[in-house]
Amino acid sequence: MTRQAPHSLPEWENLIKYALAVWTVGADDANPLVSLSAVRERMKSRNLHAAINQLLEDALLLLAERSPKYAQLLRLRFRDKELVRVVANKLSLAESSIYRMQRDALQALTEIVMEMESSARRGMIGSFESRLEPPTYFDLVGVDAHLTKLAEVLSADGPPWILAIEGMGGIGKTALADALIRRLIHQTNQYGFAWTTARQDSGIGAGLQGATAFQLSTNDIILSLVNQLWGDTTGRPSSPSEALHALEYKLKTIPHIVVIDNLETISDVETLLPALRRLARPSKFLLTSRQSLFAETDVYHYPLPPLSQKDSIALVRQEAQNENLTEIFQLPDTELAQIFEVVGGNPLALLLVVGQCHFRPLPAVLADLLEARGYRTERLYAHIYRKIWENLDDLSRDVLMAMQLTPPKGEDQDFIVGVTGLGAEDVMDRIDKLMVLNLVDCTRDKHLYRYSIHSLTRSFLHTQAMQWLNESLP
Ligand SMILES: Nc1ncnc2c1ncn2[C@@H]1O[C@H](COP(=O)(O)OP(=O)(O)O)[C@@H](O)[C@H]1O
Ligand SMILES: [Mg+2]
Repeated sequence: MTRQAPHSLPEWENLIKYALAVWTVGADDANPLVSLSAVRERMKSRNLHAAINQLLEDALLLLAERSPKYAQLLRLRFRDKELVRVVANKLSLAESSIYRMQRDALQALTEIVMEMESSARRGMIGSFESRLEPPTYFDLVGVDAHLTKLAEVLSADGPPWILAIEGMGGIGKTALADALIRRLIHQTNQYGFAWTTARQDSGIGAGLQGATAFQLSTNDIILSLVNQLWGDTTGRPSSPSEALHALEYKLKTIPHIVVIDNLETISDVETLLPALRRLARPSKFLLTSRQSLFAETDVYHYPLPPLSQKDSIALVRQEAQNENLTEIFQLPDTELAQIFEVVGGNPLALLLVVGQCHFRPLPAVLADLLEARGYRTERLYAHIYRKIWENLDDLSRDVLMAMQLTPPKGEDQDFIVGVTGLGAEDVMDRIDKLMVLNLVDCTRDKHLYRYSIHSLTRSFLHTQAMQWLNESLP
């Protein structure tokens, strides 16, 4: 976006003068004040002009507390458009001092608006970040070029309005989208942000490609966005038909970047895409999907490649260091390259392999995987999960199976203990083990720890559960 918030005090002063000048005249969309978070914050249900005026009123109230004369002077001069002579009379001052006082008053008002802006900005950053899910990673490896490119495309004025990060499960689509949005939240104040996660693979018998039984529809996505953007506020649209209109109005007046994670799990993509086209411009949509949307020519495709050998080794080493796997951490690159040679550069697959090194030596883990060398990714995963499974004790298996009942964003300890029906200590002991194996993720949401499983792990468990059900039938 070309409009940027001002940086220097004189720039700010000019802006405030401008705001005061258009007070009674009305502001059009080209008004530079539209870039202020303090204005956006006040735009919720009003138009731009009303929001700017509200900002001025609020700033003048603060100014009146600090210096009543300044506030009165500015009101008389700019809102009531009184002549200097009249103002001088009302304030019992000489005409010549009015000009000086007006300059000082403007500066004081500017400083107040700057304070309001920085607090509004902090508030907005916090509220946008709270719409994201807690990240599953500490440090991403090998994503700098992706982040730079996608940030450039997403924050440019104009098309593309819809972007899709595409690639196999576990390749890092969600992590990349998360890192990208976190970066943009801090980098630009031209956009609001929203994030919605379509439910991941569910339904008995879903394969690793992720056929789904309980899927979100376009309506669910619209409602989830309405929930995020309106919260419990009074203007919140109440019926589904109102929701699309209200959302359209909001996304057209205030540009947003909206993420829809796991597009492939949405049942009616052919309805969703036209809806997104209607909602986009100037707002933009970032989708993540296991399936390529190559048939959609107006979508900007970003196929996410696997990590290079160098980055894969870096990821393995980073994970080994975080997890105190000193022997792995200290291995030379040539040894660690074996992991890459077998599983390739898929981050989740690499993490699953490293996790097993807590319980078994690396050569044994690799020997297990050797027969999967050259498998297509789905088969490779099936093989990896199978080998991990074979090395799990019964209780860990029970707890892992119970994790299928958690929603994508995870659940807390009480929930998991509740569904297993086992003792809390046993369950948490196994959860720790499953976390070390990278089968269970733990994220922290304020004071609450949530445990979740990746959609591929979920798929594996479904397939497995189906097999057992079949095997145990007479
Ligand atoms: N570049 C990376 N560096 C480090 N960890 C990564 C990277 N990409 C993904 N991960 C981790 O790998 C796992 C799978 O990534 P995720 O984004 O969930 O994949 P996807 O959404 O494509 O299925 C997550 O635990 C994530 O934190
Ligand atoms: Mg994902």
